[in-house]
Amino acid sequence: MKTTLTITLAFLLCVGSIGLATLSASSDNDGDGARIARGFKIAPVPLTFADRNRDLVGLGSYLVNAVGGCNDCHTNPSYAPLHDPFAGQSKQINADRYLAGGRVFGVGPSGPIVSRNITPDVNGLPAGLTWDEFRILIRTGIDPDTHRTLLVMPWPVYQDMRDRDLRAIYEYLRAIPHAEPATAPLPSA
Ligand code: HEC
Repeated sequence: MKTTLTITLAFLLCVGSIGLATLSASSDNDGDGARIARGFKIAPVPLTFADRNRDLVGLGSYLVNAVGGCNDCHTNPSYAPLHDPFAGQSKQINADRYLAGGRVFGVGPSGPIVSRNITPDVNGLPAGLTWDEFRILIRTGIDPDTHRTLLVMPWPVYQDMRDRDLRAIYEYLRAIPHAEPATAPLPSA
């Protein structure tokens, strides 16, 4: 009787740990599912979906807000008043100016370097770029308007992303509201 109980217990323990192992393996390897869900949770602005692929928008939010740090340079100031985590305050992104650019990063060979407005323009294109222009810009670092190399933007890092991830970022940027920077950006030439 005692032996049967021991065997049964050992069996249950064994099944239990296989179950746990399977569970942790599946949450480590759930593809983009958890990132998409997290992306929707952390988006600091309302999103417009229209005909967009929702999964790409969610993934894009995750990549922009939890990985890419776009807000650090493209929102000026990055955090809402009294919500700056660097000052020990609770974090709240400056939704009113979210990704509208206007932050100055010193002076380059052809004038002041200012982060651009990457929210959708009147035609709904983020930073006024088509998907092809956006993809080429991130992959090469060359601005299609000026034909100059971007000097501050960490495109040498982002250029190694999968096409699907870049597309997700692009679709997310199409889904956020248009915003304007607090102060007019300096002339770029
Ligand atoms: C370290 C600061 C920094 C970070 C981080 C950053 N950017 Fe930039 N970005 C800039 C600056 C400054 C410019 C203006 C050009 C330059 O770099 O010289 C720019 C330019 C751009 C442009 C070109 C716009 C145009 O009109 O041609 C796009 C698109 C862009 N950024 C998207 C992004 C995205 C998306 C992210 C996050 C994945 C990001 N940036 C993260 C600083 C940054």
